Amino acid sequence: MSQATNQSWGGRFSEPTDAFVERFTASVGFDQRLAAQDIQGSIAHATMLARVGVLTDDERESIVTGLNEIRDEIERGEFQWTVPLEDVHMNIEARLTDKIGITGKKLHTGRSRNDQVATDIRLFMRDAIDATEVELIRLREGMVELADREADTIMPGFTHLQTAQPVTFGHHLLAWQEMLARNHERLLDCRKRVNVMPLGAAALAGTTYPIDRHVTAELLGFERPAENSLDAVSDRDFAIEFVSFASILLMHMSRMSEELVLWTSAQFDFIDLPDRFCTGSSIMPQKKNPDVPELVRGKTGRVYGHLMGLLTLMKSQPLAYNKDNQEDKEPLFDAVDTVGDCLKAFADMVPAIEPKKVNMFEAARKGFSTATDLADYLVRKGVAFRDAHEIVGESVAYGLKEEKDLSQMSLDELRQFSQAIESDVFEVLTLEGSVAARNHIGGTAPDQVRAAAQRAREALAVLKDQA
Ligand code: ARG
Repeated sequence: MSQATNQSWGGRFSEPTDAFVERFTASVGFDQRLAAQDIQGSIAHATMLARVGVLTDDERESIVTGLNEIRDEIERGEFQWTVPLEDVHMNIEARLTDKIGITGKKLHTGRSRNDQVATDIRLFMRDAIDATEVELIRLREGMVELADREADTIMPGFTHLQTAQPVTFGHHLLAWQEMLARNHERLLDCRKRVNVMPLGAAALAGTTYPIDRHVTAELLGFERPAENSLDAVSDRDFAIEFVSFASILLMHMSRMSEELVLWTSAQFDFIDLPDRFCTGSSIMPQKKNPDVPELVRGKTGRVYGHLMGLLTLMKSQPLAYNKDNQEDKEPLFDAVDTVGDCLKAFADMVPAIEPKKVNMFEAARKGFSTATDLADYLVRKGVAFRDAHEIVGESVAYGLKEEKDLSQMSLDELRQFSQAIESDVFEVLTLEGSVAARNHIGGTAPDQVRAAAQRAREALAVLKDQA
């Protein structure tokens, strides 16, 4: 091999790589983030090779010692990453050979960077999923507890962002928590397909050494070795699945954010967010801006971008590994970081939401939110629903003119519209009566909200046990 060519693969080359091409093709700037997983995978690989007799126990010992020292060097920030060595894998392998000599060069027996990198990313993603789940559980727990505390707090429920019917704040929070529960299922489902081991696929076709892939899989905690070597080195579905999980989760969190932003405005004035989650304006002294939910709403867009990026990266790729795949890491890492930060921000902030109960209640009272209850009451008194709808519509028109809510009208005023109305009508016209009447599974009645919070708590306890 000529001195001037790359030491890892330069044998067949007659001139060194162009300096720009070297930088253009290098990934070490970002894939050094996989160093811990790369070392973990290499130790398992060397251990398996020793077990099947391809390496001696002494060779394995020296490789493992060297790799552990390299891990320490990296953790201490002393490791010299270099672009000519292209990526995390060759940087670590070259350092190993520096340290232990010729035995270092035996580590790569029976594998390729293609199965190595696919294994590293899967190990990384498994850890990332577990860390994501911790924050997701923390957020869900905080939300359920707040919902339980606010099971009796009445607010307007909206359709078309117009006051529709009264609901409880607890019920609204449990709607958010249902979204999170589905995202949780998607995350755990994604983990199953992440936890499959590519190692042993080598470059694309497998290897001629007598490897035992079950041993490596077990050492690394993978569920099983990947079934097909061509698929193993080229598959990035698991990355796409994680980013689609993240996209759907952030879509939901952007909806929650939007509501929090609306509710903190002077126009709604439904909640207060503690100062520590807000910032001021450098020019308008009165401002207190809900930056955290606004940023979560904004970050949703960049994660959608990563999803489109990864889908497009994989589109039309022929089997098996292609250099294109090196482009999977930056979007994936950023999606992991972004979703982790957003979950942390929400998990910290949600339990600190302070509802302004009087404002919520007044807003629900103002919008004729018990109109449906009056119609249902008339139906119970024998009026046909369409006629009841008409009668209530007339009462609302009268209320608008007189600036009176339905519950503020006298019995005589109400009876102008229907003789079926009697003094018991006021039980259904109150907001408390309205929410309490929706007393079935999934309904907004405070008792139902408390029961739903309890079920959610129990489901979370089970998930936490399994995590
Ligand atoms: N840095 C590469 C990547 O991230 C590693 C695999 C390279 N394999 C190769 N044959 N060039 O995908």
